[in-house]
Amino acid sequence: MCGIVGYIGNQDTKEILLKGLEKLEYRGYDSAGIAIQNADGVHVFKEKGRILDLRSIVDESCKANTGIGHTRWATHGVPSHENAHPHQSTSGRFTMVHNGVIENYSHLKREFLKDVSFKSDTDTEVIVQLIEKLVNEGNKVEDAFSQALKLLKGSYAIALIDAENEETIFVAKNKSPLLVGLGTDFNVVASDAMAMLQVTDQFLELMDKEIVIVTKESVTIQNLEGEVVSRDPFTAELDASDIEKGTYPHYMLKEIDEQPLVIRKIVQAYQDDQGKMSIDQDIVDAMNDTDRVYIVACGTSYHAGLVGKQFIEKMANIPVEVHVASEFSYNMPLLSQNPLFIFISQSGETADSRAVLVRVKELGHKAITITNVPGSTLSRESDYTLLLHAGPEIAVASTKAYTAQLAVLAIFASVTAESLGRDISLDIIQELGIVANAMEVLCGTKEEMEQIARDYLATTRNCFFIGRSIDFFVGLEGALKLKEISYIQAEGFAGGELKHGTIALIEEGTPIIALATQESVNLGIRGNVKEVVARGANPCIISMKGLEEEEDRFVIPEVSPMLTPLISVIPLQLISYYAALHRDCDVDKPRNLAKSVTVE
Ligand code: M6R
Repeated sequence: MCGIVGYIGNQDTKEILLKGLEKLEYRGYDSAGIAIQNADGVHVFKEKGRILDLRSIVDESCKANTGIGHTRWATHGVPSHENAHPHQSTSGRFTMVHNGVIENYSHLKREFLKDVSFKSDTDTEVIVQLIEKLVNEGNKVEDAFSQALKLLKGSYAIALIDAENEETIFVAKNKSPLLVGLGTDFNVVASDAMAMLQVTDQFLELMDKEIVIVTKESVTIQNLEGEVVSRDPFTAELDASDIEKGTYPHYMLKEIDEQPLVIRKIVQAYQDDQGKMSIDQDIVDAMNDTDRVYIVACGTSYHAGLVGKQFIEKMANIPVEVHVASEFSYNMPLLSQNPLFIFISQSGETADSRAVLVRVKELGHKAITITNVPGSTLSRESDYTLLLHAGPEIAVASTKAYTAQLAVLAIFASVTAESLGRDISLDIIQELGIVANAMEVLCGTKEEMEQIARDYLATTRNCFFIGRSIDFFVGLEGALKLKEISYIQAEGFAGGELKHGTIALIEEGTPIIALATQESVNLGIRGNVKEVVARGANPCIISMKGLEEEEDRFVIPEVSPMLTPLISVIPLQLISYYAALHRDCDVDKPRNLAKSVTVE
């Protein structure tokens, strides 16, 4: 959450920062700002709202060689001009942007900054004021920077500039992502490589608590002990076109359409020279050694975990528990003798999941991360990583990452099953090929999905998704998709559960989206539909070919019953998309949300 950029060099600093922030807007978008520095001093432009609003107030004629920028997702203080970053120290000498949460900021204020009059409600202002205080006490800026950081408890990615030194950006991170990008006669700072692909694809990974001095010509990394660390850069394997919308009106629609291609890429990526599915032997061994798998995740990734449990239990016969990361620490289950943890996270940066990972590592257990982002925090801190190969997912509503997670989990479960000598009677390569073809068909049904959104969701206050067995989990995901982008109150339920309470909410015309893709529960779910229809509900049944009935609104192509979640979710994604569009919602940047949730 929150995105940071920095630039030092001879090009148009202001434009590079603004373009970078546009690419980071998925991380937070309630306010934004830049500070650019030239011989006249530091000029701060910041505004509540989007980068577009910021652009409109930036002085076009202001040229500079150094600058930092920020796009915010509010944690401390409402979205406002005052709380927008950059923040400055009292004298205006120091200017800072920050991503993360400083847990002890009130204590620091009371202990060290009693006499300072604060301009904002943010925890960030405490850091920049602390640095000024330490400099006023006679410390060199670099020392003040490092001393201030030592006092902080919490997470941070920071970029700081000093009005008395046009040649340097001071950078540090702890638990929040930050990279330094390398160029010829310039260097950059960014929360995510995609922000600076416009100028470089060479990046340096930074470790927690390192201090980095960035100038036009050099990048010096120091560890906690003050020793200089040397590190090789890596090439960001991102294509600039991966992060553009192209001809699509929204990233979400583009990402929905990319799903067949992603599934084919995943099959390729996990295929060995003999054309068989294969994953790292260490991971297979870890699965063979465990007596219970604990899947930990949030949001859509949690929903993927619920389906993943079915794959692993049914194919590999290993018991699996699935937990919401934010609750795990309070409701930690009794662990088995040899637990194995699987973290599922598109971004690999989700703070709730990371907090559990840290605890799991302290307890000495093994962890696998399934993520879309190589080198992300969860990937680095786990023992093993399985990549999603989905390409950057920019829309806040996760679509292609969900189906990629399911595909990787299916491959993972089938390879594990094979290594345990279990016959699953499922040719996973062939079945995922059928899934990809079915996805293509479904991506071609946009007009029908738009009509369903019009018919059922144009004016409704709420909507319920029901399903039994594996369809229940897809219903949960459908409901999350709909609520997060259209703001319609949407909830997913197990078909049999409605009559235990929620059926009281059914009124004349209440839309019920029912999934009927599983033969084993087909009669049951159809019975549930009858119960709600008898109470006035407006049912939209989505069934699978072979199970369809006359009353069904839409029929998805037939795929292996276990893999239906990979395709039954696509109509739900599209219906949510069109519902949001018809209601004039900002599809890619829904209110109050951010793509990468790096606060607990
Ligand atoms: O990056 P992660 O997969 O860890 O993110 C988890 C959730 O924040 C994420 O899935 C969220 O629920 C999405 N906005 C759902 O579309």
